[in-house]
Amino acid sequence: MSSQSTVVGSAPLLEVRDVIQRFGGITAVDGASITVRAGTVHGLIGPNGAGKTTFFDCIAGIRRPVGGTILLDGHDVTNESSVRRARRGLRRTFQRQQVFGWLSVEDNVLLAVEWHGGGGGMIGDLLGLPSRRRRERERRERVEAVLERCGLLRLRNELAGGLSIGELRRVELARAIVDSPRLLLLDEPTSGLEDHEIEELGEILDQLAGTDDCGVLLIEHHIPFVMRHSAEVSVLELGRLIAHGTPEEIMRNEAVQDAYLS
Ligand SMILES: Nc1ncnc2c1ncn2[C@@H]1O[C@H](COP(=O)(O)OP(=O)(O)O)[C@@H](O)[C@H]1O
Ligand SMILES: [Mg+2]
Repeated sequence: MSSQSTVVGSAPLLEVRDVIQRFGGITAVDGASITVRAGTVHGLIGPNGAGKTTFFDCIAGIRRPVGGTILLDGHDVTNESSVRRARRGLRRTFQRQQVFGWLSVEDNVLLAVEWHGGGGGMIGDLLGLPSRRRRERERRERVEAVLERCGLLRLRNELAGGLSIGELRRVELARAIVDSPRLLLLDEPTSGLEDHEIEELGEILDQLAGTDDCGVLLIEHHIPFVMRHSAEVSVLELGRLIAHGTPEEIMRNEAVQDAYLS
């Protein structure tokens, strides 16, 4: 089966239509549309200042677009808060890391689960309810599994503040995937990583999409990485989508070559 027919076959998870976002006189996103399908990685590339991060902020609900619609799993979430979108299974990482430097690696990841609420709150903790204890055990198991998946078991007790950039990026990824997201938005996840870490990240992404049926929207400057791991690729320039297709089609596209790849 060609990658094109695979792309057409799977269900749309995220549908972004004609999104517009402005900062004063600058139109950072100018009517961009994109579809991310369940179980696939969709690469989003484009030069610096193209509007990629702003587009993410609109999808995640951090910025309210001035035009357009955003559907997640068929629900119109355009006017929903980032918290509600997160409850629907949307997770993101940031171009700059957002971990808690004064906490251990393990606690950083644990907090990302607890943020959803474990049920029973503080009273539940005090009473030591059986359901609460079971949930606590499940939570610890999930954290353990994700630490292993992200190669962080060895660092679990280290303070996040003392980690290298590559390690911090892995903590951020672990926080984003610890409770099985439906849709994961990654903003330049390979930046600051060493070659072997990029390789490992690629394996994690393939697994998330292929095995866990998660949709991934991947902003990335590392073109070989995008082309290798994406089922489809969109290209943004000055807030507009100038191309969309399979990695092979994008590599051959003349407009993309001129604007970006040359
Ligand atoms: N908070 C902001 N205030 C004003 N202008 C912004 C802000 N964020 C981004 N921009 C502008 O919007 C455009 C798109 O930026 P951005 O989304 O960061 O692009 P990319 O992530 O593709 O590099 C740029 O011209 C940038 O200067
Ligand atoms: Mg950016």
